[in-house]
Parts: sequence; structure tokens; C-alpha cells
Amino acid sequence: MSSIKDLGRKVIFSISPYVPGKPIEEVERQLGITGVIKLASNENPLGPSPMAVDAMRQALGRVSNYPDSNCYYLKKELALHLGCREDNLAFGNGSDELLKQIAETFLNPGDEILFAQPSFSEYEFVARVMDAKPIAVPLKSDFTYDLDAMLQKINSRTKLIFICNPNNPTGTIITASELFDFLNKVPEGVIVILDEAYHEYVTDPRYPNSLELIEEGKNVIILRTFSKIYGLAGLRIGYGIASPEIISMIQRVREPFNVNLMAQEAARASLYDKDHLMESKNLVIMGREYLYRAFDKLGLRYIPTQANFIFVDVNRDSVTLFNSLLRQGVIVRTGDIFGYPSYIRVTIGTPEQNERFINCLERALNEVCS
Ligand SMILES: Cc1ncc(COP(=O)(O)O)c(C=O)c1O
Repeated sequence: MSSIKDLGRKVIFSISPYVPGKPIEEVERQLGITGVIKLASNENPLGPSPMAVDAMRQALGRVSNYPDSNCYYLKKELALHLGCREDNLAFGNGSDELLKQIAETFLNPGDEILFAQPSFSEYEFVARVMDAKPIAVPLKSDFTYDLDAMLQKINSRTKLIFICNPNNPTGTIITASELFDFLNKVPEGVIVILDEAYHEYVTDPRYPNSLELIEEGKNVIILRTFSKIYGLAGLRIGYGIASPEIISMIQRVREPFNVNLMAQEAARASLYDKDHLMESKNLVIMGREYLYRAFDKLGLRYIPTQANFIFVDVNRDSVTLFNSLLRQGVIVRTGDIFGYPSYIRVTIGTPEQNERFINCLERALNEVCS
């Protein structure tokens, strides 16, 4: 008799399921403490824009209706905001869903994708789901992309290249000249996905204006999200920018009502709240400087970041250190999942959260031997 396992597609057994953290309330209940802070998912500690909250309140009575399948108003307003055409835009239930749609649109079994290591885990995941072959290209010793090594890995089976800019978890960027030079060398039959989930936090003037690439007709798909600086992670909404040809192909695999009503309304309102955006960015810029100084004092090596998180070498087993921080009510991300077992990734919080994190980190460093 065959088992249920025999019925599953072989490839799913090569995928490790996502391991979610426990809800904060459960952590508090188990540890018998309150006031736990989560600095693990690169969320905006200020929360959403009050304008987004207002827009959702006004939309509450309409949740009995299906949302607009085409994100009609959001598309119009976002196109104006970005200075692109409406047919350059696609929306997803988070940019995660767009990554999956891109994989479903372009990847046949045996096709290859290139991605950096360490980087965002979804690239490898979506490739595996399609039975494509994920090829990891290690970052250079300064934690930046090794674009030459990526070029060397391209062959006739290569379909997609995933570039995370700034890169999660390192916070490093690819500059405009590096990116444009790289794209000029990528063969025509390869699509480059530029994941810019954290682009609003970038202060380095060398960061590329990738929208120019769309105007030039390059084979790129830019991915952005409302989950990070806009503080709408719980609503799940992200968007892609690409040529109308690419967008119309991706639309074929889209579920009809993939972006919910609250997400559309909140995203629209958020676009107009420049104060919330500026405040959120300034908080991160100040937080970076505070944490750099604190890490310097503690003698810890960190990677200067262009995003809202910092990858820092704690010189100890990060899982043991994580548990010590957790007991003190601070949740961070351990580096073992990225292949860096002595690193942690910490999201930049409010000044109070950052200070609390540093105090707890100091205690944890003393508690856990290197
Ligand atoms: C680099 C990167 N891309 C995409 C995402 C997913 O964002 P979304 O919430 O829009 O699915 C994340 C979330 O952590 C991320 O770090």
C-alpha cells in the first residue's frame, strides 16, 4: 500500500518548512514576564501611519464585499507617486507572494536561479517549490555581493537572478555603477529581480534609482513592500514594478482577490503620510548611530547597514545568546539560519527599545561565554 508521502511531489521534501517564532503573548506567558520586545522581523516600531489606521476604520463596514481585484485606485495613486505607468505595476499579498508568482511564471523544473548567501530565504524557497535549482553565490568577505562570481555562474539554464538591495541580513548595498555594469553583462534571456524591501531606509547616495532601468526596458523586476517603513506587515501588501509584458505574464498566475480590502485602503492612505515616513526613517538613522556606538563600546564587530537592522558578531553561539536575551524579554534573530552562527540580526527599534536591547545584550554577553 502506498503511503500519503508517496502522493506528495518529491520536491516538497527538499523544502524545510518555515519555522515561525512564538507569539509575544505566549513568550510572556511561558517566561512569566511582560513587556517583551521583538526586534526580529524588521518591522516599524512606530506602527502604521495614523492616516492608514483611519482609512481602515472607514473601510471596516465594506469587508463583506470582495476587494477590488485590480487594486484600481491604489494602482493609479502609486503610479503617480512613483512616476511610472499603471501597467508597470503588480500587487501581491506581501512581496513574498510576488516572489512566488514570479517563480510560477518563469521557472520550469531544472531551470536555475542565482541568489546570494546569506540573503533572504524566500528566493531559494520559491525556486524549490517549482523544482528549479537554486544556486547560492557567497557574499564577498566584506559582505557585499560578488557580482563577478554571479556572472560566472550564469549558463543556458539560468532564468532568474535575485538581488536583495539592501541585502537582508547584512544591510549592505549594491551601488548604481555596480548594478548597471552587472546588468549590461547579464544575457538577454535572464531576468534580474531587484528586491528593494528596505530601499526607503537607504542614505548612501550611491544607491541606484532602479526605476530608470524599467524606462530603459531592461529585463528587471523591482519588488517593494508596505511591510517595512510603512508599518503594514500584518496586512500583507507588496508590489512589483516591471515592463508591461512581464507584468501581464505575472498576472496570469495571480489569484483574483490576492490583495485584501484593508491592505489596499491602508496602503493608499500611507502614500500621503510623508511625516510618518520621515519620522520612521529618522528613527532608524538615529538608531543606527546609537547602536554602532554601543557595539563599539562592547567591542563587537558589526556590518554598517543601509537598512533597519544590523548584523552583528557577538563572538558566541548566537542561539545561546538569543535564549539569554529572550529570558530578559528581547527577541532577535540568530545568525545560524544565515550560516553565521556567531552573529545576530537585530532590528533597529525606538530609542527606548534600543537602549533596553543594549543593556540586555551586555548582561547576555557576560552570561554566555565566547
Ligand atoms: C528582503 C525582503 N524581501 C521581501 C520581504 C517580504 O516582505 P513582505 O512582507 O512584503 O512579504 C522581506 C521581509 O522580511 C525581506 O526581508
